[in-house]
Amino acid sequence: MDRVRTGIKGLDEMLDGGFLPQTANLVEGAPGTGKTTLGMQFIYKGITDFGEPGLILTFEQDTQQYYHDAANFGWDLKRLVREGALRIIRSSPEVTLADLEHVGGQIELAARDLGARRILVDSLSHFECLASDPVAYRRVVYGFINGLKREGLVSILTRESPALLGEPGDDDQEDVAFVVDSYLLLRYVEIASVVHRALLVLKLRGSDHAKDIRRFEITEKGLVVRDKFEGQEGLMSGTPHSMVRAFEKAFVEKRR
Ligand SMILES: Nc1ncnc2c1ncn2[C@@H]1O[C@H](COP(=O)(O)OP(=O)(O)OP(=O)(O)O)[C@@H](O)[C@H]1O
Ligand SMILES: [Mg+2]
Repeated sequence: MDRVRTGIKGLDEMLDGGFLPQTANLVEGAPGTGKTTLGMQFIYKGITDFGEPGLILTFEQDTQQYYHDAANFGWDLKRLVREGALRIIRSSPEVTLADLEHVGGQIELAARDLGARRILVDSLSHFECLASDPVAYRRVVYGFINGLKREGLVSILTRESPALLGEPGDDDQEDVAFVVDSYLLLRYVEIASVVHRALLVLKLRGSDHAKDIRRFEITEKGLVVRDKFEGQEGLMSGTPHSMVRAFEKAFVEKRR
């Protein structure tokens, strides 16, 4: 089957080649774990390595921040915008939702204009203010995701998780894991008093994927996924174990 490669070293291998076409892919992690970097890299590589134009939809940072952060990794987003391969849209959750419900909305027009194939939504957490309860929130996110799929886009949706180490977020948040096609977790892991970054693919609908926890680094060229944490379990303060346990509890057991 066709794969949408992220172009991120080590990650495509974990995803058995990449994301599936027209899917919504959740990237969750504590502040500073690298969610925005991963998403920007997906968009940047999509354009420069695979010739797939992309969109960045943001509710938080001003667009200058993206240009600045990307430039740190040597990614010239301004040039891509000038060349018509990238558009950065700054909006609010309200406007975005209304936008996708109508023909000819901002995202639809931008996607058609550019021939966009990929979108980064940074971040999904902002939709929480639109819903008064978990059921409503899930409905909102579901509608949003379907809107993106209708535009033929593969999306990366970032989401902040409150826990710095260990257990994933609360029940309301986990709920969204059911409506996305894949779920990637970024975590800080402590080994012998040193904090590392770890990545885990919790779910990839319709495909096999790596089940282990891999170390990753943010380098001057962006995110690089390294080796497994295997063999070091004895050294860990139980965190990776509890990550997998918490996931099983939240996700697998609920599903049964
Ligand atoms: N040029 C660089 N070289 C190495 N590491 C960098 C570089 N630029 C940023 N970083 C690292 O990336 C981290 C921020 O990544 P990013 O903004 O992607 O995180 P995030 O998960 O989106 O955070 P937030 O929850 O605040 O939005 C920083 O904490 C920093 O350690
Ligand atoms: Mg961010």
